[in-house]
Amino acid sequence: MTQDEMKKAVAQEAIQHVEIDTIIGVGTGSTANFFIDELAKIKHQIKGTVASSVASADRLKGHGIDVFELNSVDEISIYIDGADETNAYLHLVKGGGGALTREKIVAAASKKFVCIVDESKLVDYLGQFPLPVEVIPMARGYVAREIVKLGGEPVLREGFTTDNGNIILDIHGMEIMEAVKLEKQLNHITGVVTNGLFAMRPADVLLVGKPDGVDTVYSK
Ligand code: 5RP
Repeated sequence: MTQDEMKKAVAQEAIQHVEIDTIIGVGTGSTANFFIDELAKIKHQIKGTVASSVASADRLKGHGIDVFELNSVDEISIYIDGADETNAYLHLVKGGGGALTREKIVAAASKKFVCIVDESKLVDYLGQFPLPVEVIPMARGYVAREIVKLGGEPVLREGFTTDNGNIILDIHGMEIMEAVKLEKQLNHITGVVTNGLFAMRPADVLLVGKPDGVDTVYSK
């Protein structure tokens, strides 16, 4: 199986977790796109969706799937999204596509989070993939200096603005041994909107695409 075939396989498996007649939270990225395409096949069986990015909302609408504002829904039964890295605790690094803030909000507002990845995303320790941090533009220099104090090397994502009008600093060179602690430390830097660690609210279920099929892993 190619990497794209593994992504498609986990997207198809994720459909089994979709609850009929509910609102579905939808993530961002190439794996989430495969999920959106699968969701289109059962669109008449769901109430609609909440999207974690403008790009995903556009793709959903293109399939004729209803997309609601988060503020207009009472409950999201499940959030389905990819990740850039995951460890055995289902702690994630996300935000490679820059949608981390809305992803974190929709994940927080959802009863269950099913993460869908191909096997290349499995790591022993988070941090090989640069950790994205969304930052208010005027705070860029200050936040970068605070990140250096934590042992990271912040690099501005050139030419990129988030859906919320902010910048991204990607933190290189961190071997993340205590993901919950680092997530809190980064959140406490004034000017940080969100960081891409999903450790305080990890995935509940991880679907991993492998050459011989899909593994299902439940949080410990
Ligand atoms: C976007 C994300 C994505 O989930 C992450 O980058 C994985 O993307 P892909 O499925 O394309 O590998 O966090 O902000």
